[in-house]
Amino acid sequence: CALSSNNSMVCFHCNSYCKLDSGWVRSVRPQKENLFLHVNDGSSLQSLQVVASSELNHRLLTFGSAVEISGSLVTSPSRKQEVELQADQIDVVGECNPVDFPFKIKKKHGLEYIRQFPHLRCRTNAFSSLLRIRSEATAAIQQYFKEKGFIQVHTPVLTSNDCEGAGELFQVEVSSKNQDEEGHQHFFSVPAYLTVSGQLHLEVMAGAFPGVYTFGPTFRAENSQSRRHLAEFYMVEAEISFTQSLEDLMKVMEDLFRSTTEHLLDQCPEDVALYHKHVITYTEAINILNSSSKKFAFKTDWGCDLQTEHEKYLVKHCGDFPLFVTDYPYALKPFYARDNQDQPLHTAAAVDLLVPGVGEMCGGSLREDRLDLLKTRLAQAGLDEAYGWYLDLRRFGSVPHGGFGMGFERYLQCVLGVDNIKDVIPFPRYSRSCLL
Ligand code: 4AD
Ligand code: MG
Repeated sequence: CALSSNNSMVCFHCNSYCKLDSGWVRSVRPQKENLFLHVNDGSSLQSLQVVASSELNHRLLTFGSAVEISGSLVTSPSRKQEVELQADQIDVVGECNPVDFPFKIKKKHGLEYIRQFPHLRCRTNAFSSLLRIRSEATAAIQQYFKEKGFIQVHTPVLTSNDCEGAGELFQVEVSSKNQDEEGHQHFFSVPAYLTVSGQLHLEVMAGAFPGVYTFGPTFRAENSQSRRHLAEFYMVEAEISFTQSLEDLMKVMEDLFRSTTEHLLDQCPEDVALYHKHVITYTEAINILNSSSKKFAFKTDWGCDLQTEHEKYLVKHCGDFPLFVTDYPYALKPFYARDNQDQPLHTAAAVDLLVPGVGEMCGGSLREDRLDLLKTRLAQAGLDEAYGWYLDLRRFGSVPHGGFGMGFERYLQCVLGVDNIKDVIPFPRYSRSCLL
């Protein structure tokens, strides 16, 4: 263990001797001669049992208080744990008044309750677990792309483009101190926004590398209170050059999901066997929806976007496994999606990965690599001037490419079965809420 030192304390993480002699009290049990404490240091769910003489019982030794302990580690007589700490001295370094502390000893608080305390919820088992999982999943994602030879690109947070063209942008303003006398902003000569996606910048890099990715915060001013939308979320985006098939993209999406989940479940193949691949086209999806007896709130005509209720129904209908839906109507997709040229249907080479309980988790497409088609599409959307540079990418050493984005929070929702997206991010930002 990296934390190993000469200090004879147990590491709660690996159960070996490490310098870990401090933490937060999770339970206090005074008995006649002895005082039993459980102390947790955040490295795992396990708490170390501390046994002290009841003379050490201190009124400040309460649930939630921060302690430093010295003593010796011994084999525990109980079968509940291998070792326990016989304390010689316990110092309460941070008091915690149990009356005011919102979490109570021995009480299992719901996620909705603990969400009310964004500054304290990391002290609960549920949320400290989530934070360790986020950290592990982040490392697994980085490891996956590194092993596959992808280059990580730090795409900008501030940008002048609206990649998705949906107008869900947060515009960035400078503080009044940095405005000129008339109150005009003069920082950038053009309006700047928080990025909705790093895709276009990745496409720039796809002109020089076969595989690139980015993993960072993205922002959407969607006025939604739903259980699947945040105003600030982390997205893993990849762009793959020299590909002309959605199968190639699906392979990477599936591989990323599988290897990250494998890492998370720490080699539990039977749990990962849950992963089962299904592919249907958008047109098949519409047929499934239209032949169902279920009444949907939103329309299911060909050409309508799939809503969460539709996505969840399709996932259930196809066996409650992750489900790829391919070839969406061309008109539904942004300018960059590759035209399948399959008139009269007219679809784009785009694919979404839908997962149980969540619906859309990933979205991707092949990118339009034919200059003339791209030019026409941009001109129709009135975007040809702004995207002259994007057309250059197709003019100079262009390669067929495609990519996708996976919502990291939705991934965590899916793997952990967490109903509300606000419970898988440390500091949730959403419409009418920006606490802390
Ligand atoms: O489908 P989206 O909008 O696709 C893009 O942004 C592409 N430019 C990605 C690419 O091809 N490089 O978003 C991708 C994923 C969705 O599938 C969803 O998982 C997640 O981002 N997502 C959100 N997650 C939380 N809150 C929101 N408001 C989200 N909007 C999208
Ligand atoms: Mg999408």
